[in-house]
Amino acid sequence: MATICVVGGFWGDEGKGKMISYLALHDKPSIIARGGVGPNAGHTVVWKGKTYGLRQIPSGFVQDKARLLIGPGVLVNPRVFLEEVEVTDTRDRVGLDFCCGIIEEKHIKEEEESAHLSKKIGSTKTGCGAANVERVRRSLKLARDIPELKEFLADVSLEVNTAIDEGKDVILEGTQALFLSLFHGTYPYVTSKDTGASALCSDIGVGPLKVDEVIVVFKAYITRVGGGPLEGELSVEEAERRGWLERATVTGRIRRSAPFNFNLAKRSVMINSATQIAITKMDIVFSECANARTIDEFPKEALEFIEKVEEATGVPVTLLGVGPSVEDIVDLRSEKL
Ligand code: IMP
Ligand code: MG
Repeated sequence: MATICVVGGFWGDEGKGKMISYLALHDKPSIIARGGVGPNAGHTVVWKGKTYGLRQIPSGFVQDKARLLIGPGVLVNPRVFLEEVEVTDTRDRVGLDFCCGIIEEKHIKEEEESAHLSKKIGSTKTGCGAANVERVRRSLKLARDIPELKEFLADVSLEVNTAIDEGKDVILEGTQALFLSLFHGTYPYVTSKDTGASALCSDIGVGPLKVDEVIVVFKAYITRVGGGPLEGELSVEEAERRGWLERATVTGRIRRSAPFNFNLAKRSVMINSATQIAITKMDIVFSECANARTIDEFPKEALEFIEKVEEATGVPVTLLGVGPSVEDIVDLRSEKL
């Protein structure tokens, strides 16, 4: 029985959606609760041949027995939320907290009109920052004020803590990633809130002693969208040659890319108090990992890379992504923990 936090290690888009879907199917938690900023995040899940780009509903929806919750620290755009309820067919088991902040059109417009956010920071312009500003001013509408959301309203912290106290398994789903944190990231090129494991717990209303495992998700290379520093950044041509060129889920922008950074990984593990590391897209950097079912099928270079990550961070690498589908994961937890 465990409460697991899953958080991003670098600048987002590590493949948390897929990792959480896998854990949800495999570990069968009774609740998957989403934290993070709001609909600026896009979690990609490839399930039964269909690709979902989820911005509000927890990626664990693929586990059809799980309750899906959104914590009070998360911003909700009712239009995006209601669309995703339909797309994922989860109306009977999704809940959002009475106190989730509400994004309105005026917040999106404000960000679109801000040259600072649009041009310099490279915001997703989904209204999250502007809504968080209003929340700090204590004038933001909350979910409890919106009639269309009435049937979904829930006391998320009570539900999650009750499940934990009853010994049930719970996954807390983080969004964004550590270096996009307003406090720990590459300010001002960050999002409008903290994004580490502690913030994830706070978004949902779970205290630090109730968490058993923190899984930090890295990708085998780094990407970031928007402005800000990126050590070892590749040219678009080089990224394309290596097969690292990606497009963003929410905005469709080309993602900047760089090789894996061991120092940043170490810092991310420290601030998140990570107990395990997941690494996605091993198949993109090491082609022989593609569709591997066990680690014995990995080439020597991939094994050396994993060893180096463990040496730099002091934390075991337990989950490895080897392809786009939810099932394309090599799970070493039973061997390494
Ligand atoms: P905002 O939070 O939409 O204002 O964006 C601020 C910065 O964070 C921009 O560089 C965005 O690209 C980045 N960002 C926000 N959310 C995500 C995410 O979920 N994945 C990757 N980058 C993100
Ligand atoms: Mg994303």
